[in-house]
Amino acid sequence: MAVPKQVKIVEVGLRDGLQNEKEFVPTATKIELINRLSAAGFRNVEAASFVSPKWVPQMADGAEVMAGIERRPGTIYSVLTPNLRGFEGALAARADEIVIFGAASEAFSQKNINCSIAESIERFAPVAQAAKEHGLRIRGSVSCALGCPYQGEVPVASVVDVVQRFAALGCDEIDIADTIGVGTPKRTREVFEAVTQVFPRERLSGHFHDTYGQALANIYAALQEGIEIYHASVAGLGGCPYAKGATGNVATEDVLYLMNGLGIVTGIDLAQVVAIGDFISTSIGRPNVSRAGKALLAKARSEAANCV
Ligand code: HMG
Ligand code: MG
Repeated sequence: MAVPKQVKIVEVGLRDGLQNEKEFVPTATKIELINRLSAAGFRNVEAASFVSPKWVPQMADGAEVMAGIERRPGTIYSVLTPNLRGFEGALAARADEIVIFGAASEAFSQKNINCSIAESIERFAPVAQAAKEHGLRIRGSVSCALGCPYQGEVPVASVVDVVQRFAALGCDEIDIADTIGVGTPKRTREVFEAVTQVFPRERLSGHFHDTYGQALANIYAALQEGIEIYHASVAGLGGCPYAKGATGNVATEDVLYLMNGLGIVTGIDLAQVVAIGDFISTSIGRPNVSRAGKALLAKARSEAANCV
């Protein structure tokens, strides 16, 4: 399988990253983060969640965030919608893409969205139908595709099953998510080999958390399977409120550095993203965990110091 020449990076730091922050991040900071990301060239930014504010208080200002951003033509602004109420919020907020999020593990489905996998699909069906009627893109996210914090091992067949159900709902794109970052390259390839049998390869994405330090290796493995879409979080922001101990997604800066080194086109300016990683880490008082980001910031600072 040829490695793609070009990939799409979906920036999820604002949603998957910030949703885990205990201190409420001001709406103005979220808006500035999204605007800066759009300006850096991202074709897809996950911007908000229309979920219960009791479950995820950090995402309670989704409507205000979406109302305040500058929309860059050609950038897809996605929001999470667990049910029809969330969809109504997404529609009012003029989201381009809605994300229905299920799991390949029953235990995680219960913890995250308070229902079984089968019930979640029933709940998503009218959401997907409404999205189609209104011409919105639909993305389906499959949590715990490489392992579950409650159940442990997740059979590849369970991942394939949820992908097929999402495909039947009309998803334009489907995310294979390693929620707790336990996957390794071998498993990553096995899962992508299986899911590409039932859903078009070019519409599958890899969403890797970096808990065990395997995310870049897993992306490299997924590239060998021809996967063209990857999720990443600037400065490595995040974790998952319903997966204790999970760290953020792989840092965007690290993914861009990898893609640049492989000669794979992303259309995103790494230097701008490094500056954005510094901006958001400083703003919320959180360590920047991007290896490439920190290295490039240190290099720039030492070069600036040598100039004076
Ligand atoms: P529930 O308690 O079963 O549902 O929650 P409910 O219908 O009984 O509603 C409970 C309360 O929430 C009610 O309010 C509703 O009005 C309200 P109350 O009467 O108690 O005051 N409510 C809402 N409010 C705003 N917007 C809505 C909405 N829906 C209900 N859309 C529910 C079910 C799905 C709502 C809940 O479990 C929930 O919101 N879960 C969100 C979980 C979440 O956001 N998790 C993180 C994102 S997923 C993720 O990070 C994984 C991913 O990154 C991939 C990976 O890494 O694996 C995507
Ligand atoms: Mg995630």
